[in-house]
Amino acid sequence: MTANRQKKETEGCVVSRRNFLIGSAATATTISVNLFPGTAQAVATKARVVGYPRKKIATLSELEPNKPIAFSYPEEGSLNNCVLVHLGGVQAGGGIGLKRDIVAFSSACTHQGGPLESTYKAVGEHRVLGQCPFHLSTFDLRRHGIVISGQAYQSLPQVLLEVEGHDIYAVGMMGLLFGHDRNLKEA
Ligand code: FES
Repeated sequence: MTANRQKKETEGCVVSRRNFLIGSAATATTISVNLFPGTAQAVATKARVVGYPRKKIATLSELEPNKPIAFSYPEEGSLNNCVLVHLGGVQAGGGIGLKRDIVAFSSACTHQGGPLESTYKAVGEHRVLGQCPFHLSTFDLRRHGIVISGQAYQSLPQVLLEVEGHDIYAVGMMGLLFGHDRNLKEA
């Protein structure tokens, strides 16, 4: 296949990771994509690109090490409860800030929605949400919220963060929130 042909086939279906995961407003857009280009299964189809809201959730100066700040994202309501945590110098997957130690997660347990807001613990190098008050699950905030123990079998959804000046913004979400069939009503 020539470089020109390859380029042509991919034109019109390039969606950057940022545009796919994040958006400046809670909107859904329909675009055309070409699946399996250059194969017998090639088919043009429609894909919906979902944009998460960009929401200011705190300033850097408000954050204290190991003192979570509660917020709602991407919408309001108890199943959208989240916590923003400064892990006190412990680097985390998806962390922002100079030490990559600022993260945010849903605080609704992925098992049956147990409230995790008040369960944060920092012990040595460990940074954990849990034990869940319902069935004792715990989640590792250094490793994208993976399950450490308990009844849950799905990681906690992680909130994608950005810093602009001194402000911290929630701009997207990785993972499906408990109690949702989609994270955004409009999606
Ligand atoms: S609801 Fe959290 S472990 Fe069951």
